Amino acid sequence: MTQILLLGDIHANYPALDAIIRYIQPERFDWIVNTGDFTVYSTFPNETIQWFRKRKNTVCIIGNTDRRILRILSGKKLKRPKKKEKQVMYFWTAENLHAKNAAYLKSLPERTDFTTAKVRIGVFHGTRDDPDEELFPWAPEARFRELAKDSPYKIQIMGHSHVPFYKIVDGVHFINTGSVGRMFDGDSRASFAILKISSAGIAVEHFRIPYAVEKVVEELKNHKLPDIYGKMFRTGKKLN
Ligand SMILES: [Fe+2]
Repeated sequence: MTQILLLGDIHANYPALDAIIRYIQPERFDWIVNTGDFTVYSTFPNETIQWFRKRKNTVCIIGNTDRRILRILSGKKLKRPKKKEKQVMYFWTAENLHAKNAAYLKSLPERTDFTTAKVRIGVFHGTRDDPDEELFPWAPEARFRELAKDSPYKIQIMGHSHVPFYKIVDGVHFINTGSVGRMFDGDSRASFAILKISSAGIAVEHFRIPYAVEKVVEELKNHKLPDIYGKMFRTGKKLN
């Protein structure tokens, strides 16, 4: 049996990643997938990136927040988010990211695929069409059908919407891991999934586990970062 740990949208929330690591023993997985958005709104981008950098069996891509950090680091202007209060964290991250971790982010693609147990798996931040598309489980069936049409991938793994789901449409398995570090459904617990491929078929299970939210809030305070971030992590709700 091939076992794959599915992570995504960690958003520099290392305490949430650490809780998952302690819960599942990552050594037992053949692959560890990260659908992107390593960075922004928590103060642990280095710890988060280093954890992936140290491992060999990872399949990682960048997300929109990572792309913005790379933009700032290359001297370009930050167009989004527009609100100054939100921008603070992007500049803080760019300033505090160690050179090796920035180089690692820069080396990652926006989408990728790999084959394991004779199954081809696509990994995307948004969807296979658009890295910024937020795909929700309640999207019209027609949208899933379009994404399944002529899909070279039996499995499409996605993040970005922060809403965990698993759907099979026209023979293609669609999995959203949910967000490790920044869920939006009013439940602050970390979300991740485990994918198993065996002779019995493909199986997916989602998990939600608690982590040390207060550690995240405390570190934000220590760095004098806007209060809205801590509130977001505590309530498990989106910044507006
Ligand atoms: Fe995200």
